Amino acid sequence: MLVSAKEMLNKAREGKYAVGQFNINNLEWTKAILLTAQELNSPVILGVSEGAGKYMTGYDTVVGMVEGMIKGLNITVPVALHLDHGSFEGAKACINAGFSSIMFDGSHYPIEENIEKTKALVNACDVLGISIEAEVGSIGGEEDGVVGAGECADPDECKAIADLGVTMLAAGIGNIHGKYPENWAGLSFETLEAVKNKVGDMPLVLHGGTGIPEDMIKKAISLGVAKINVNTECQLAFAAATREYVEAGKDQQGKGFDPRKLLAPGFEAIKATVKEKMELFGSVGKA
Ligand code: 13P
Repeated sequence: MLVSAKEMLNKAREGKYAVGQFNINNLEWTKAILLTAQELNSPVILGVSEGAGKYMTGYDTVVGMVEGMIKGLNITVPVALHLDHGSFEGAKACINAGFSSIMFDGSHYPIEENIEKTKALVNACDVLGISIEAEVGSIGGEEDGVVGAGECADPDECKAIADLGVTMLAAGIGNIHGKYPENWAGLSFETLEAVKNKVGDMPLVLHGGTGIPEDMIKKAISLGVAKINVNTECQLAFAAATREYVEAGKDQQGKGFDPRKLLAPGFEAIKATVKEKMELFGSVGKA
């Protein structure tokens, strides 16, 4: 059964670790993440961007696949199915389709409009027991067509959004989706501390988890980050392992062209990446 992310994130914040959100693209991704979470006895959040939802033929398919897999694989650790960077319409569609968690990314609206739209969704999620993430200060880089400038959030605006009763808050602290450029200035812990001081116990979300150095991840967790999103790193690991298989000519040996064989190295690479992240985030054994 899918669960809201509220309890797992509150526990993570109290226990000073973070739960990973790993974005899914298809069956292999989902299976690799769920099996790794179960093997490590870790809670997990499956992230679905609107683009990935469309790719998988819609939110109903996603809910059906994930719920079926939880049953078929006997997954007993807490699993939240979460919309990543949702629009207002996308959030409503995911609530209707049976997602257990949504993100409404209103960071590109004027703050008054972000507040108004987030508030409407908070009320709907409250009634249904669904967790909701809001965003202040856009995350840099591009993810599935959602482009952000990489701002540092205004702590007062964070407080205004947190006070609406969201479950978790993504505040821009100089983080970027995708690979970090060589000249990246690093995370702004000053901003993170200022946000934390304003919002108190609210679990904070760190987007753009790919490529952030380990010491910065640990420091961010110590300052209130309880959810870390990882997407690109699984994609890079999958692509590299698949490339190696094909370049070694293995798809041309025997039945190596069978998709169950062709996609196996990439699947194992996602598992290894998720394991590494769960160990770093400290969520192993916390289910
Ligand atoms: P990365 O692709 O940089 O890991 O970011 C993932 C993310 O923040 C999803 O919202």
